Amino acid sequence: MSKITKGQRIGILTAGGDCPGLNAAIRGVGKTAIVKYDMKLMGISDGFTGMINKEYTELTENDLSGILTLGGTILGTSREKPFKGSGKGKNEISKPVLIKEHYEQMGLDCLVCIGGNGTMKTANLLSQEGLNVIGIPKTIDNDVWGTDLTFGFDSAVNIATEAIDRLHSTANSHKRIMIIELMGHNAGWIALYSGIAGGGDVILIPEIDYKEEKIAEYLLNRVEGNKPYSIVVVAEGIRNAVKDSCSVAQSLSKKIYELTGLETRETVLGYIQRGGTPSPMDRVLATRYGAAAADMIAFKNYGKMVAIKDNNIVSVPLADVSGKLKLVEHDNPMVIQAQNMGTSFGI
Ligand code: F6P
Repeated sequence: MSKITKGQRIGILTAGGDCPGLNAAIRGVGKTAIVKYDMKLMGISDGFTGMINKEYTELTENDLSGILTLGGTILGTSREKPFKGSGKGKNEISKPVLIKEHYEQMGLDCLVCIGGNGTMKTANLLSQEGLNVIGIPKTIDNDVWGTDLTFGFDSAVNIATEAIDRLHSTANSHKRIMIIELMGHNAGWIALYSGIAGGGDVILIPEIDYKEEKIAEYLLNRVEGNKPYSIVVVAEGIRNAVKDSCSVAQSLSKKIYELTGLETRETVLGYIQRGGTPSPMDRVLATRYGAAAADMIAFKNYGKMVAIKDNNIVSVPLADVSGKLKLVEHDNPMVIQAQNMGTSFGI
């Protein structure tokens, strides 16, 4: 094992959509870096935008106090993708070149990028450009390849499950079909987990092509079986939803009514899933990731993403993660178990 290096100057940024646990991760990196390794921590504003514009401020240990439980990110975030499009920043200089120049000017020894798939892609490209980069995976969607879990996911599942629980009252009292739309453009993890946790009768996810007729048949069978209400949990990215209305839930709701004549109502949970304080599990995961990232810097273990496998913190090359998505497999044991218990996936 290579020897420990202390006193490095590290940059840290949060990029992509915000999620619960970002501040816990910043704190985990920062406290370990400062307390254990005597490093300096530069907080970069608004994701890669801050690297392009050289906007940063030093974070002391005091700045990291009291942020563990805060939602959002104290650094700000953006969906800036410096390698995409014209890629030109200030004075027509390409954004990746600006980032490299500013990395040098800021005297950084390493850049910690906290984000989802897009961020890991950018982190990998910056690593290929010669910067020392470490990735930390976050997203409520839980779809980053190479890790069992991303922080933000557990909080989102808790929020979504509570919403499903609450919908049961109206569904039951009014004998309605309640359709709840959850986040997840490509991956249906939130819908699958909260659908199971909240006892959803139908769960629709982007990875599994459903048939509206099958859903209608299933719901009518429930009515005949003396179950006059149902909860339909839908991920926003389900493939064959009609695209002409404002939400997937609305379009599905209309279709179900047309096919069954049953009274339907829809709820789109939206950004509530991404907001507020992280769950204890997310606080722990984000802290573990952050602390492990600081250890990786001390060992100059660059070009990697922190990950969790079988509850052990490991590191995986950013090059392996980049461009891939972790999706729900059709034969995922949870999908099979839910089907065995009578849950419909519309197939
Ligand atoms: O953070 C992931 C995610 O929540 C997706 O599920 C969602 O589609 C997307 O972000 C929307 O975020 P924004 O509106 O910030 O781009």
